[in-house]
Amino acid sequence: MNYIQAAAALLTNAQHICVLTGAGISAESGIATFRDKQTGLWENYKAEELASASGFLANPELVWQWYQMRRQSIVNKQPNAGHTALAALQSHCEQQGKSFTLISQNVDDLHEKAGSQPLKIHGSIMKNHCHDCLAAYTGEFLHTQALIYCSHCGGLLRPSVVWFGEGLPTHTWQLAENATAHADVFLSIGTSSLVYPAAGLISLAKQQGASVVEINPNPTHLPHIDVQIASKAGEALPQLVTALSYSKSTT
Ligand code: OAD
Repeated sequence: MNYIQAAAALLTNAQHICVLTGAGISAESGIATFRDKQTGLWENYKAEELASASGFLANPELVWQWYQMRRQSIVNKQPNAGHTALAALQSHCEQQGKSFTLISQNVDDLHEKAGSQPLKIHGSIMKNHCHDCLAAYTGEFLHTQALIYCSHCGGLLRPSVVWFGEGLPTHTWQLAENATAHADVFLSIGTSSLVYPAAGLISLAKQQGASVVEINPNPTHLPHIDVQIASKAGEALPQLVTALSYSKSTT
């Protein structure tokens, strides 16, 4: 049995399935992963320095313009075979009466474009809110390079993403933790598993008795992985969906 078949067998026998995705699932759509080196104007900055409230308050123009660049590079990107297969996997599982929860660290909207509705634990890059009064704004400022001030309180608008040092959206995180704790199978796809608390979901799943499958061309070698698929998501996930349609339950 190869690794795809092993993962398909686990999914076939599972009742509660939980999936965590990271930047790697969007790599084949042409979106740089978070730990890829910055290029051009931004090559002297680390993503971690730009993605923080302290970085924003120290140099708001710099951080705003970096996010405008990222938004403009993301807005027309399309889901790839990995996103599409994951949506098909969800339909397949739900048709069989299984629960399926997709949790994503990604701030792009490619899962949504593929028809999924992920729990977005790190927010959404296309939305903005006021850094001071938290009033929400939608993404009508895509090409505005100058800073924008809140019409309610005069504070600075910022992207609605979770920055380093900030808390995750409480309700979304609770749903993610709850689904993880009840999972029989947990799929970790395209994440370096370096950023907490998101990465802690993998060990939580394992502690609660789930089998853990990782899909990543650069395996993390975390101790909790049961099945390691060292392939790109856009290759492995369609194969997994095909294998699943041939797989028979052993229970
Ligand atoms: P990273 O950039 O840390 O890791 C991306 C992972 O994707 C790496 O392990 C790659 O090996 C893997 N990868 C690359 N191409 C792939 C492919 N085609 N298929 C599958 N995997 C592939 O991204 P994340 O783990 O998502 O947080 O980073 C986690 C968080 O760190 C992000 O959500 C962001 C960042 O700080 C916030 O924005 C709060």
